[in-house]
Amino acid sequence: MLIDIVSVFPEYFDVLNLSLLGKAQEKGLLEFRVHNLRDWTHDVHHSVDDTPVGGGAGMVMKPEVWAQCLDDLLDIPPLEDIAQADEQTSEKRGSNAILVFPNPSAPTFTQKDATELSHADHLVFGCGRYEGYDGRLPAYYAAQGFDVREYSIGDYVLNGGEVAVSVMVEATTRLLDGFMGNHDSIVEESYTGSEGLLEHRQYTKPASWRGMDVPEILLSGHHANIDRFRRDEELRRTSAIRPDIIARLDCRALDKKDRKF
Ligand code: ADE
Repeated sequence: MLIDIVSVFPEYFDVLNLSLLGKAQEKGLLEFRVHNLRDWTHDVHHSVDDTPVGGGAGMVMKPEVWAQCLDDLLDIPPLEDIAQADEQTSEKRGSNAILVFPNPSAPTFTQKDATELSHADHLVFGCGRYEGYDGRLPAYYAAQGFDVREYSIGDYVLNGGEVAVSVMVEATTRLLDGFMGNHDSIVEESYTGSEGLLEHRQYTKPASWRGMDVPEILLSGHHANIDRFRRDEELRRTSAIRPDIIARLDCRALDKKDRKF
């Protein structure tokens, strides 16, 4: 998988060379390319933003600079060449990339989205700053035939898209085959295993610590009872913490013993 990330603060992504992400690059599972948007500017000040049309506070990122950058990363030929080419204009040109823009006013990024992104060969993330990017940008690339996604990572506003992109990159790349040492840990964890229930609590040794004991059943060696205990805890935790997940549960996935919840 090739991941291009565009930002006016490319240093933010130095962390990508650390830990599992760094190892995944060494193993050849992934290639990251981090770009400075200002490299596509042509003025002395390398400006990437302008005042909002219609008034209002802050600055908006200019579409021309973004488009020059994205056209390059997506292998889209210069507009003049396209005009000369004898081909249907509706046909999509360039890479098969999915284009992702973080945006606090977009649908929330979920595990399902991470799974979808993990199947792509090429992801291009564009980090907005200030009051965000010009609203025509996602619509333009969607009209060119690209799969364009806008996601929020939660109901709060960050200073820019960099942290949101780091979150989405981590959630996506850890799903790649060969990324995690133990694939089972991905299958069992919250939001993917057990129909999307929150995961049960985990314990390790010692069985008794500072007067607190691990639940006795976990020491019994009785696997069916342990599974039931964990499943009950998942249902109980999810009902208490995330009733919205319970409301969305597919009842056909529940068994008779689940019904008391
Ligand atoms: N940019 C600023 N806040 C954001 C959020 N919550 N999600 C995604 N992008 C953002």
